[in-house]
Amino acid sequence: MKGIILAGGSGTRLFPITIAVSKQLLPVYDKPMIYYPLSVLMLAGIKDILIITTPHDQVSFKKLLGDGTELGCNFQYAIQEQPTGLAEAFIIGEKFIDKEKVALVLGDNIFYGNGLVNLLRSKINIEGASIFAYPVKDPERYGVVEFDDNKKVKSIEEKPAKPKSKFAIPGLYFYDNKVVEYAKKVKPSDRGEKEISTINKMYMEAGNLEVGEMTRGMSWFDTGTVESLDDATEFIRVLQNRQSTMIGCIEEVAYLSKFIRKPDLKKLSKKYGKSNYGKYLKQLSDSII
Ligand code: TTP
Repeated sequence: MKGIILAGGSGTRLFPITIAVSKQLLPVYDKPMIYYPLSVLMLAGIKDILIITTPHDQVSFKKLLGDGTELGCNFQYAIQEQPTGLAEAFIIGEKFIDKEKVALVLGDNIFYGNGLVNLLRSKINIEGASIFAYPVKDPERYGVVEFDDNKKVKSIEEKPAKPKSKFAIPGLYFYDNKVVEYAKKVKPSDRGEKEISTINKMYMEAGNLEVGEMTRGMSWFDTGTVESLDDATEFIRVLQNRQSTMIGCIEEVAYLSKFIRKPDLKKLSKKYGKSNYGKYLKQLSDSII
């Protein structure tokens, strides 16, 4: 399976912070935001990853992440000229996806929790599409999924004024190769975007959509507003300091996913200078027998 991180967009809800800096490069506590969704794809076991950015931000992402070799991965880059919708990821990424299945994660989404790795790995051989439902207080901000009494998906709506349920669809989606064909059929919505919800509806109508409920033990943050960015930072800070382990440490994840070995970890820790992040990596590599 291949992976795509969609890290373009205009980040207008975070202005003036994101006038000159890409949202996905902003810090969430002690590391750039994109480390979190990147580590999610890597935890799923995905090594081939396409990072889609705006034209002017690409250089910064390349500086930060390089070609992925150090992490035992293969990172490629592509540009989205205008933020005209999430469904475009599969058109921009058509060549990259080739004949494989693909996971898409939004560059401003953070996932953490019990059972996440097993959940992710169970989606790698998906036939059809697999998305998630997560209960939130403000579903109107998201794609919303409604279930019938038998827990079957009844409807999917993008940012509805009157949501039919409290279940938002988080920015993590798994698809078989049909997604490219479907994406090409998506017409812009009333707000001028090629919506991912339209693709999900196509899978639903074909009877090939699976919706898994993210349970209580799992946390999902969308860091698109000042409040939610602040919440995510606080969450990561408290959890990391309490547990003395890092969330979204891409080198650690590369090691756990067996993409790199212990000596590689030690070498990589030097890249981060005197920061706590660097110290954490060094301690980690020292502690491995
Ligand atoms: P959004 O948060 O919906 O949009 P945005 O980032 O442009 O922010 P705002 O609404 O504040 O203007 O996007 C979700 C994620 O998807 C985010 O990581 C940016 C990315 N994105 C793209 O890469 N291309 C797009 O066309 C869109 C709409 C979003």
